[in-house]
Amino acid sequence: MTHTSTRTVAVTGSASGIGAACVARLRAAGHRTIGVDVQPGADVVADLATAQGRAAAVEAVTTQCGGVLDGLVACAGVGPLSDRPGSVLASVNYFGVVEVVQGLRPTLLAAQHPAVVAVSSSSSSTQPGIPLELVQACLAGSEGDACARAEELGALGTYPATKLALAWWIRTQAPTAEWIGAGIRLNAVAPGTIDTPMTGGPDLDPELVKLLDVYPVPLGRRGRPEEVASVIEFLLDERSSLLCGTVVFTDGGTDALIRGRDWPAPWQPSREELVAKLQLPS
Ligand code: NAI
Repeated sequence: MTHTSTRTVAVTGSASGIGAACVARLRAAGHRTIGVDVQPGADVVADLATAQGRAAAVEAVTTQCGGVLDGLVACAGVGPLSDRPGSVLASVNYFGVVEVVQGLRPTLLAAQHPAVVAVSSSSSSTQPGIPLELVQACLAGSEGDACARAEELGALGTYPATKLALAWWIRTQAPTAEWIGAGIRLNAVAPGTIDTPMTGGPDLDPELVKLLDVYPVPLGRRGRPEEVASVIEFLLDERSSLLCGTVVFTDGGTDALIRGRDWPAPWQPSREELVAKLQLPS
């Protein structure tokens, strides 16, 4: 955050892992944080899996920040445990983020240099076979359809779809009049495997354990939550004022290794698309 002033930042998923590391880092830098989590002890205890929980979280954060919120880290998320229904992942990882970001927009609008960072995942680009119809159901805003499809797919297939939908939501919303046009920057991080309770618990889906074990990390080790938090802090800060709609891969090189030439992707638009996107005279 800007070094000269104290700012107020809401962090969802504040009780553990990356969210807790963000809270620690921001507080150490002198900022005020409002933690939101389903676990008791958070500044705002709310279940972001439900529409009521999201609304309650938005209301409580709005009250606690006095209507002015400088930053929002949308970090709460759930991983693919073998006994966790896919619908829970769709509800928390996608709808629990988007609805809270949208709900807090008025408080962000009231701040001077507001910024939002969502936590996606490098699985969005490196886990093979993402079910795109689930991604589309999320982006269409249809929680019922998304949850129904997620139930069929199970948690392991649903997880990267929710994280891809989130990355695409950030990228498509960030450059619009509603967000950057109103002065609010939206960006995302896409962590690789980070050592947190999400990747270390005994009830992880065995398929996920296999995946985590085989995924190459050119850096040679897993990430630490503090390393992701430092990138998030930068994205909240005016030092990153030109970043808008970016997805920063905090993964020790996995995405670059697997998808090296897929990004940046060259643009080869049709004439119609060119005219529409650049608003040329047709
Ligand atoms: P974590 O399990 O340590 O922390 C997640 C936090 O979210 C917990 O405090 C939990 O109580 C909270 N949460 C879960 N469901 C909630 C709900 N319904 N309402 C409110 N809060 C809820 O996990 P970690 O690793 O810190 O994950 C943070 C974010 O980073 C998640 O979105 C995760 O998908 C993402 N991520 C994690 C990676 C990793 O390797 N750990 C890799 C890529 C992305």
